[in-house]
Amino acid sequence: MENITLFDPCELGSKQLNNRVVMAPMTRTRTSPGDVPNAMMAQYYGQRASAGLIITEAIDVAPHSKGYLWTPGIYNSEQVSGWQLVTEEIHRHGGKVFAQIWHVGRMAHTSLMPDGEVPWGVTDEQAVGSDVFAHNSEGKLTFVRASKPRQISTEEISDLVNVFRTAFKNARKAGFDGVELHAANGYLFEQFMNTVLNTRDDQYGGQSLENRTRFLLEVVDVAIEELGAGSIGLRLSPFGHYNSMPDDPHGEETFFYLCHELQKRGVGYIHLLYELLPSGNMEQVTEFKELHLPDDFVKKSREVFKGAIIWCGSFTKEKAQAALETGWVDMIAFGRPFVGNPDLVARMKNNWPLTVADRSTYYTRNGEIGYIDFPNYQIS
Ligand SMILES: Cc1cc2nc3c(=O)[nH]c(=O)nc-3n(C[C@H](O)[C@H](O)[C@H](O)COP(=O)(O)O)c2cc1C
Repeated sequence: MENITLFDPCELGSKQLNNRVVMAPMTRTRTSPGDVPNAMMAQYYGQRASAGLIITEAIDVAPHSKGYLWTPGIYNSEQVSGWQLVTEEIHRHGGKVFAQIWHVGRMAHTSLMPDGEVPWGVTDEQAVGSDVFAHNSEGKLTFVRASKPRQISTEEISDLVNVFRTAFKNARKAGFDGVELHAANGYLFEQFMNTVLNTRDDQYGGQSLENRTRFLLEVVDVAIEELGAGSIGLRLSPFGHYNSMPDDPHGEETFFYLCHELQKRGVGYIHLLYELLPSGNMEQVTEFKELHLPDDFVKKSREVFKGAIIWCGSFTKEKAQAALETGWVDMIAFGRPFVGNPDLVARMKNNWPLTVADRSTYYTRNGEIGYIDFPNYQIS
């Protein structure tokens, strides 16, 4: 793997990516009412299309999957039309884009749920100490504690698999090159996989590996039917504690079992991150840091999983280049650097300086400010 650089092309399933720089998924809360993507979002993503691959912000599969106000959906025709604007703009600039699809599970608040119902949980265990972005008791938009969930039934889980199927059909209609399942950071898929949290006694729960990964793999299989294995990626955060995930003594075993199953299915990529620190409250994350997974762990992932591997978390150009040279990973994802540097690829390639975006504009309704107003680098 020597001599591979960040700027070399890369194969992903049947697709050829222009380079190995990935734009990491980032929630930016700029949707139009109805959780509909809009022309401004298309412009934002289009500006960043020189990334080899863009992974969108997390997208809700259904109204009850919502944990944060103003995140987009992909469950009705208006939303699909909105996403068409986005994918067309990215493709017009020569880029590729995967939709990050999630269900937040217990990481939600009754004020965001349809008819004020309680959030959907793997069990009724609350994410004590973790926040979501919703309305407080005075109706003010802010970070509030996740509500206590209810344990969803076995039947609801099977129905949910079909809800994901609709999202994948919609992703195809909207022109996405693929989908990334958000199976990281303490959201629904990860809630199922955690042995401490998932104390269910049906076929989706308990200590058995097969049971704990059943929901995710059922969704993966449906995604493969709709889009083809090479167009599927999974974001995974083994050992993560984000969103009040308890320490899982079987986390490593679960992760490698899953990798093995994904390998059997020929899934396009896995996208690895460790955890965001400090855990639990996005608003308090002034220095939004990510710890790296241990080297041995990433190396072993490569031995088990032969598809592409993306690695994310606090990478600089130099660290990214060194990571590629290990041969354990194929692409590096950058999050915050893409906020202020739409032309991040060119800036890294030419060693031009990077702009640091003001994080107070990450999740605002200020429209263009801190969103589409970052210029490309100008040589003076
Ligand atoms: C504003 C913002 C929003 C984010 N939203 C998401 C998201 O929707 N889905 C997700 O998986 N990660 C999300 N993340 C995490 C990033 O994808 C990435 O893992 C993190 O920023 C670390 O990468 P970096 O050090 O290059 O920024 C978000 C990060 C930021 C800064």
